[in-house]
Amino acid sequence: MEILDVLKKYSAGVDREIEKALDTVDPENLYNASKHLIKAGGKKIRPALVLLTAEAVGGNIEGAYKTAAAVELIHTFSLIHDDIMDEDEMRRGKPSVHTMWGEPMAILAGDILFSLAFELVAQTQVDDVPASRVIKALNTVVDACIKICEGQACDMSFEEKFDVGESEYLNMIYKKTAALIAAATKSGAIIGGGTAEQVEALSQYGELIGMAFQIQDDYLDVVSEEEELGKPVGSDIVEGKMTLMVVHTLSVASPEDKEELIFILKSGDESNTQRAIDIFNKYGSIDYTRDIALDNVNRAKDLLDLLDDSPAKEALYDLADFMLQRKN
Ligand code: IPE
Ligand code: IPE
Ligand code: MG
Ligand code: MG
Ligand code: MG
Repeated sequence: MEILDVLKKYSAGVDREIEKALDTVDPENLYNASKHLIKAGGKKIRPALVLLTAEAVGGNIEGAYKTAAAVELIHTFSLIHDDIMDEDEMRRGKPSVHTMWGEPMAILAGDILFSLAFELVAQTQVDDVPASRVIKALNTVVDACIKICEGQACDMSFEEKFDVGESEYLNMIYKKTAALIAAATKSGAIIGGGTAEQVEALSQYGELIGMAFQIQDDYLDVVSEEEELGKPVGSDIVEGKMTLMVVHTLSVASPEDKEELIFILKSGDESNTQRAIDIFNKYGSIDYTRDIALDNVNRAKDLLDLLDDSPAKEALYDLADFMLQRKN
């Protein structure tokens, strides 16, 4: 099955769980603000990972739907708050939540999705999944939330800090992005009743594809068209964000090029974006980051070797490749 069809196949059940969870949110403006991005529809990579990993270890997929929906809610919460932090006005091809309802309501919309996520995991039926697994899954998801906050704090403190090293950058994206993707694959494996070895391997698989995912996200920010991407292009350069392309260029460029790139990152001027890309290219930084992302994807795929063959395992294999094929 094509990977986009796999994502679609699982999303209806996930949407149903999310619908139910949000149903009682009141007052109406908070309800609308909370529903806005969900209605706009994301790719649903994370919930599909929960369901596929549960399936790949031979588990009952029904028991994993609430955790899958919870992970998508946490992701959506992080996007709403991220757009406030990054001052981005578009998301999933629609105006961002704070653009429509203002920052106070967007903060609350994020908070309520975050809270509903934990309620959902805790509602997993013990008939479907033993309570000990549910508690472990809950722990896994909570851990990822702590890391997202830490990673987002690093992301912001790296703005206009021009001596960020590659390992500091990698640690930042691990926390802000890869940790939740790893929590998706780990919690799925736990709920599905995987062995300790399978849980560990799938957790690492999630971390590796999560790293590749964020590196690709940074790359798409410089090479896409807004219409296709659904969020502003060049936003990272305008905001002076550290990406692997920036970190690499700053570590190898001549003093003049380094000075120019820093000037562009500080300028907040959209019209300098192309010049920044030219400097990245001069130092092979775009190819360099693609190579690192590709290496992560290949290592992730190797980790799947210890699973029995199944359509779910095939899909996990294809999803790893999808990290670098995606255009939005
Ligand atoms: C975007 O994630 C945020 C990052 C971690 C880079 P996705 O690209 O998965 O967003 P949606 O859910 O498909 O909109
Ligand atoms: C995403 O980082 C991290 C989280 C949402 C936690 P970005 O700031 O790069 O995500 P986009 O590009 O706005 O989706
Ligand atoms: Mg952002
Ligand atoms: Mg951000
Ligand atoms: Mg981004």
